[in-house]
Amino acid sequence: MHNIKSPRHLLSTAELSLDDIHHLFARADEFLAHHGHGHAVSLKQQLLGKTVSNVFFNDSTRTRTSFEMAAKRLGADVINFPVEHSSLNKGESLSDLVLNLQAIGVSTIIMRHPESFALNTISKQLKIPVINAGDGNNEHPSQGLLDVLTMRRHKHWIKGLVVAICGDIAHSRVARSNIPILLKLGAEVRVIAPQAWLPQDYFTGQVKAFNDLADGICNADVVMMLRIQKERMHQNDWPEEKDYFQRYGLDCEKLKLAKADAIVMHPGPMNRGVEIDSAVADDLKRSVILDQVTVGVAMRMAILEWILK
Ligand code: CP
Repeated sequence: MHNIKSPRHLLSTAELSLDDIHHLFARADEFLAHHGHGHAVSLKQQLLGKTVSNVFFNDSTRTRTSFEMAAKRLGADVINFPVEHSSLNKGESLSDLVLNLQAIGVSTIIMRHPESFALNTISKQLKIPVINAGDGNNEHPSQGLLDVLTMRRHKHWIKGLVVAICGDIAHSRVARSNIPILLKLGAEVRVIAPQAWLPQDYFTGQVKAFNDLADGICNADVVMMLRIQKERMHQNDWPEEKDYFQRYGLDCEKLKLAKADAIVMHPGPMNRGVEIDSAVADDLKRSVILDQVTVGVAMRMAILEWILK
């Protein structure tokens, strides 16, 4: 249960209760229903007077922009903190950086950081909430939430759904944030990867692990493809891309093994021709990849409201 004396952070999906997940899904669905129907003005009052700060140590297209869009739709001010031009260059520590942002008066810090669990440490030092926008190989909770909500919007329920997550599982914070929500809601979760990218913890629990793509996506309702996260592995471990695509890349032929109405997902950024073929990625009858991005704005509105109100 959330302690009312400490701020409510969003660091991991594993710490969310079923009530939290259902609340966030319901609010994001409401925001999506309201979008473009004349409710924009009333939404603008929700976070009036709050200031959201985006502090990103790694590149981002979707997460940073959609948190900014979400904050502005709710009436908050946004500071995109310029990490590369900050006093970190003069030797200031991460801890001093966030304490100073708090003293300046920001209402929340949304941070992407290359080190796993970096945010767990700083969240303990702050009186304001921290939102994890991706920490190393660990978690990307807003992505997990928006992904599972996208599945529910397309498939109408999660219980019993067969979800196959394929690719660089070992370095994927997206997989780590999707799986606890999917299991909590009763989905069957499969992970598919070369043996070297299947950490041991994926073999022991409720998740089924596969080395063969054909076995793993057989009869799946949802096929989620993941990028090879080269920035988080040694160059010697990079696979030969043509080989990788042959074994693990999703094309129209391989997709035929999933259910006829299976949806295809990808958190982005996509590497076309490496983990996914353009014919699949751009097939709007199967691919919900851009829907994930649209749902992401609404989910981030729900998260900011939940954290800040
Ligand atoms: N899915 C995701 O985190 O995308 P960005 O890296 O562009 O934010």
